[in-house]
Amino acid sequence: MSRSVPVITIDGPSGSGKGTVSQRLARDLGWHYLDSGALYRLVGLAAERHRVALDDEAALAALAEALDVEFDLHADDLKVVLEGEDVTLVIRSETAGNRASKVAALPAVRTALVARQHAFRRLPGLVTDGRDMGTVIFPDAPLKLFLTASAEERANRRYKQLKEKGIDANISNLVAEIAERDARDSQRSTAPLRPAEDAIEVETSSIGIEEVMQQVARLCRQRFGDQVL
Ligand code: C5P
Repeated sequence: MSRSVPVITIDGPSGSGKGTVSQRLARDLGWHYLDSGALYRLVGLAAERHRVALDDEAALAALAEALDVEFDLHADDLKVVLEGEDVTLVIRSETAGNRASKVAALPAVRTALVARQHAFRRLPGLVTDGRDMGTVIFPDAPLKLFLTASAEERANRRYKQLKEKGIDANISNLVAEIAERDARDSQRSTAPLRPAEDAIEVETSSIGIEEVMQQVARLCRQRFGDQVL
């Protein structure tokens, strides 16, 4: 991993807007993009396909290590291919998210994905989306953001996103699932969801995506200079 390559880490709970913000920022900057949550979602999906139990830590770590995956940011949405099959939509379901959060709590699975995540750090720079990007995977990142929003607002956003993708959803189930996933993500002993000490928090409950992008662009210019965006 080259420490001279700049990294912007964007962490936060699901529905905080970090997915949209980090993808847009990577495109605007012309930098590489790492969706670390997709890796955990893919391990969950691969486990289902290969009939590996979600508590078989050693077998799941082996799956994570060998994951045959391709990402393409140049499609409209991030395109994700697992073992030759386009799984872009399949991995975005709530079931896939819950499965991801279960496998993500296993230390051996997290360790198995570290080198793969570091490999995304290439010139001209990298924007990452996740939970532990600023705390564990890229602790030396020169700019760390932590996006937050209330659980209700995050459930509303997920509802709209899922509907747009034609995926069926129920708002009260979503609120409950988000709360359950937050609790599991922030209480686990390995790499719990929390802002890095040097992260800048961006509260997004009451502002739209354009305003969030403006704030983020301002922070990028402050850190990397006016020519960056
Ligand atoms: O961000 P996304 O909703 O795709 O992440 C799915 C799950 O993967 C999260 O609920 C979390 O448990 C796990 N995850 C993680 N560390 C990351 C990214 C995601 O534990 N860096």
